[in-house]
Amino acid sequence: MIHRIMRSVVCALALLAALQAHAQQYPAKVITIIVPFAAGGPSDTIARLTAQTMGTALKATMIVENVPGAGGTIGAARLTQAKPDGYTLFIHHIGHATAPALYRKLSYDAMRDFDPVGLINDGAMTFVARKDFPAKDLKELLAYVAANKDKVNMANAGVGSASHLCGMLFMSAIKTDLTTIPYKGTGPAMNDLLGGQVDFMCDQTTNTTSHIKAGKVKVYGVTTAKRIGSMPEVPTMSEAGLPNFTVTVWHALYAPKGTPKAIVDQLSKALQEALKDPTLKQRFADLGSEPVAQDRATPEALRVQLKSEIDKWGPIIKAAGVFAD
Ligand code: MLT
Repeated sequence: MIHRIMRSVVCALALLAALQAHAQQYPAKVITIIVPFAAGGPSDTIARLTAQTMGTALKATMIVENVPGAGGTIGAARLTQAKPDGYTLFIHHIGHATAPALYRKLSYDAMRDFDPVGLINDGAMTFVARKDFPAKDLKELLAYVAANKDKVNMANAGVGSASHLCGMLFMSAIKTDLTTIPYKGTGPAMNDLLGGQVDFMCDQTTNTTSHIKAGKVKVYGVTTAKRIGSMPEVPTMSEAGLPNFTVTVWHALYAPKGTPKAIVDQLSKALQEALKDPTLKQRFADLGSEPVAQDRATPEALRVQLKSEIDKWGPIIKAAGVFAD
């Protein structure tokens, strides 16, 4: 009996030593960050900016792999199939919290199957249209949409994307269902908006700011409670005519469930260091976004935020009767 106990203690200690050795060597190779939307969109932009600066802090190469589709749930499922060794990570946004209510047959549990590393940023969205859309402000747009509801269309990045969520809130605010056109990300959607193939969309400032400033798309409002410093001339949606229309998009970093705590803590510290970097802060600010405070770039803060957002959006989505599957 004693021998059996001794043997299992020795095995446990050996396993612990191996895990600690692995953590001590980490990172020893390239780290891949899965982004669940197409290249060129806001999530991709946030991921690439974060990867660049985090990689410096970790003294490692961090690359982005775009795994788009189904509003971000295909990329999320891919992460849950990865080894929990710290070399495959995942960046997603508020869509990770809305997916459990929108997708009734998810192959994963949004809380249980992911080890939170930390929050990254809070970002505004903008309501934008093709540059020749016949409305000079939101009030005119609402009137035009009411008179032409079967003729206009709205782009999004698939059910569960931030653009879909914002579009869903827009349609419930105007009590009108519109034709929506899903893309694998708002990178490709923006190409069609710039080309006039689609009428309007709600998209993150990380993707719209440069086109707004260049006059290539029309902007009708920002979805934050207050105007944003990068575009102070743009009214909030509330000011422009849709009271209490607020959506902010938070991005966060996750590891697969079961990643050694020492590695998760090392990643969280590198994330916190990256978010203090002046160049990254300026790039985020130029794009109308801002890094979260240091105490939110932690596993515990993300766990709390994810749980509260899942609990918040579940009833809203169910009441709207929107399902993806
Ligand atoms: C979305 O949720 O709309 C996505 O963030 C768009 C994208 O990143 O391509």
